[in-house]
Amino acid sequence: MIKQRYMAAAFLLALLPFFISGCKNSSVTSYYEKGALATASPIATNIGEQVFAKGGNAFDVAVAVGFALAVVHPEAGNIGGGGFAVIRDASTKEIKALDFREKAPLASSEKMYLDSMGNLIENMSTVGANACGVPGTLAGLYELWQEHGSLKWPELVNYAVLLADSGFIVNAYQAESFAKYKDRLSVFDESSRLFFPGNENWQKGDTFVNRELGWTLAQIQKDGLVSFYTGDIADSIVATVKRYGGLISHEDLASYQIKWRKPVSFRFDSLQIYSMPPPSSGGLIMGQILKLVEAYDFSKYDPASIEYIHLFCESARLAFADRSEYLGDPDFYNIPFDILDENYISKRRELINLNTTNSSLEILPGIMPTYESGQTTHYSVVDAQGNMVAVTYTLNSSYGSKLAVSGCGFLLNNEMDDFALAPGVPNLYGLVGGEANKIEPAKRMLSSMSPTIVLKNDKPLFILGSPGGSQIITAVTQVIVSLSRFRLPLERALAQPRFHHQWLPDNILLEEKSFDINVKQGLLKLGHVIKETDMIGEIHAVYIDGAGLMTAVADSRGPGHAGGQ
Ligand code: GLY
Repeated sequence: MIKQRYMAAAFLLALLPFFISGCKNSSVTSYYEKGALATASPIATNIGEQVFAKGGNAFDVAVAVGFALAVVHPEAGNIGGGGFAVIRDASTKEIKALDFREKAPLASSEKMYLDSMGNLIENMSTVGANACGVPGTLAGLYELWQEHGSLKWPELVNYAVLLADSGFIVNAYQAESFAKYKDRLSVFDESSRLFFPGNENWQKGDTFVNRELGWTLAQIQKDGLVSFYTGDIADSIVATVKRYGGLISHEDLASYQIKWRKPVSFRFDSLQIYSMPPPSSGGLIMGQILKLVEAYDFSKYDPASIEYIHLFCESARLAFADRSEYLGDPDFYNIPFDILDENYISKRRELINLNTTNSSLEILPGIMPTYESGQTTHYSVVDAQGNMVAVTYTLNSSYGSKLAVSGCGFLLNNEMDDFALAPGVPNLYGLVGGEANKIEPAKRMLSSMSPTIVLKNDKPLFILGSPGGSQIITAVTQVIVSLSRFRLPLERALAQPRFHHQWLPDNILLEEKSFDINVKQGLLKLGHVIKETDMIGEIHAVYIDGAGLMTAVADSRGPGHAGGQ
């Protein structure tokens, strides 16, 4: 891979409109009539705008953006991982959930990450070939296009082919991200050569070229799923994984299939909410939290008040406790009862005391994770017809397993860590689980990704999602509460300081430097343990007003950008 410090003229000229408009408009908010989107990358958003300009619909945009992010946002954008999409088809008004989550290799087994003493083998589920699930992203993007796209497949993939071949200009965010992960990526020769040719560091303004990925994307452009799941790319995946002792086989790749699922749907206030069902916990846990808080009078609360934070966190604690027990891949494990049932929720609500908290540690020992932060990416797309596409996809932690497929220019995920590796042992998000989410061959690991569509009076109102592992659920839920209960406009709803509780570890996480000292003291007085973190979630959302005007907002916590036509 050649690191180039000159302008890759042709393609960058094609992106000139973006650089110009990007300079003029540094705001993350825009208003559009024909189509709008928000993604984690200004370049990917610009590609979405180009697809809209060509007459593409929201699905076409979602496909082109998915491939573009795989090039320009390599820590999370991917073809070596998996994800989910919640979509609304304007022609039928149907809302559906597409599951392209990774699967455990057929040769995997329940105790594969434990030593002979039953202890977790360090890093095995997070780094290298053993950490990888069978990738589903390409199958997911292909399905979105095949079922709902209107432009030609090669045209949609072409943007990413050009980006990979000609390169993109590294911004400050990306240079910092590469620097942060250099040591970990350099463990594998394939990744070291790809991301740090000549072992050099990246500076803002450099051009990152990835011709190996350009080749891979060109195969995908030509033959769709064939090369990746059964041809040359499949051979390289299997050979790379085998070299490092992993399990993914040709049979795993050839048998990978997406699943259409019925979204989790429920009402909150006057909103109709549709989100991801298992194998994501997102929709159900969001539903529990919203239903628990719905019964309370918010007139004395504000979005950063002690009372609201306490109520929300007590509700989240209850919901996440259920997550650890009852949720897993529905093809392998039946959730034993309806965890959104009104009577059940009422009973759970009785456990909330507005004046104090108790200890989750009384129930099960919690261990504060000290692992690297998770990284995922979400983008939201809406068009004038009312098609809506919310995509959250991931390699799991930043740059996934850190292992790049030899000669192919892309990273494999470390999604196996999302299984319950042993009862009560926390994964890299500190989440614990048991039987429902144990490892089984060809099973999908439990996720927290929550691509979400919200309607009001059966009309599209907003669409959103976030990265952040378990924090995805609380971030998305808090934005919904801010829009509905606190009546904030979208940009302010996203700007609100966020907080998080997931039952175990037993503490409230607050975004640092965002909360008043009185709020922290008030929470301590109620019995909470407080920890701080740099940020919680990175929401990309589109709001549609009564006249059909779209507001797109990229969360100012990240490098994202909103755009449209
Ligand atoms: N890998 C993070 C999630 O799926 O929740």
